[in-house]
Amino acid sequence: MIIQKHSHKHIFLKITIDIVLVVIFWAAAYGSCYYLNTQQIAQIKNQADSSRIITQKAIAAKVAAREAKKKEPVYITLPGAQKIRAIVEDYLLPSSMWAIVSKTHPIPVDYTPASLKIPDVDTNTSKSELERSVRSDIAAPLKTMFDQANAAGYQLMIGSGYRAATLQASYFNSLASSVGEETANQSIARPGQSEHQTGLATDISMTSQQCYLNECFADTSDGQWLVNNSYKYGFVLRYPKGKETITGYQYEPWHFRYVGIDLATALHDSGLTLDEVWSYLETALNTLKSNGAI
Ligand code: DAL
Ligand code: ZN
Repeated sequence: MIIQKHSHKHIFLKITIDIVLVVIFWAAAYGSCYYLNTQQIAQIKNQADSSRIITQKAIAAKVAAREAKKKEPVYITLPGAQKIRAIVEDYLLPSSMWAIVSKTHPIPVDYTPASLKIPDVDTNTSKSELERSVRSDIAAPLKTMFDQANAAGYQLMIGSGYRAATLQASYFNSLASSVGEETANQSIARPGQSEHQTGLATDISMTSQQCYLNECFADTSDGQWLVNNSYKYGFVLRYPKGKETITGYQYEPWHFRYVGIDLATALHDSGLTLDEVWSYLETALNTLKSNGAI
């Protein structure tokens, strides 16, 4: 009986020890697995973090490079002129300060400048308010030029500024009815082919109207002052003598087009017309487009 009791006790002890050993074993195994897992998770997390940082840095570098490219200046060097910085605009649009409008580069007849105003200079009061207007952003340079001309002793006025395509058509048709379309088109543009529709062109004359829209304006001191100084204010003589086959129009010593001081100066120094340098402008425009600036 005693032996049996002892044997039960012994078995119970053995089982307890076994259980304890199993628990210890599992605890050790679980503990080491947990430790290894935590290590591995931390390692994977670190790798993910560093590859995320690398990706973020690469994306940020690409964005920065793209932004820098957009802002990269594009230059134009016309023959005989200093290099100028290309303006960031689409010159193919009639709203661009560098837009070309000609027989070969027409603009939509329904184009109207966003803002027009009568500049604070003398204008031909026999014309409509609209025709005495120019694009608002050239009213100030125009006034500066007229003020400087005035200070030099000349009295200038605007004979014709903005002309809608409908007004241009009436001028063209009226002349064409007497001299024929081909002859009329040597001095008056067809609707959609006149710079006047952009609000960036003005026909300038003396307030006395001496040599009004006449070639003899070139021989007046007022006309000469304009030819020699207009570029300083951003204006170019658009239809010079000797360039009739290039511009498509007769010599017009009264027609001035605003392109901004830089381009006006380069055109003045090179002796070239907007038509002749258009390919330079197009190249610059394509570069601006491929840089993502436009
Ligand atoms: N006289 C210029 C060419 C025009 O009509 O626009
Ligand atoms: Zn004109």
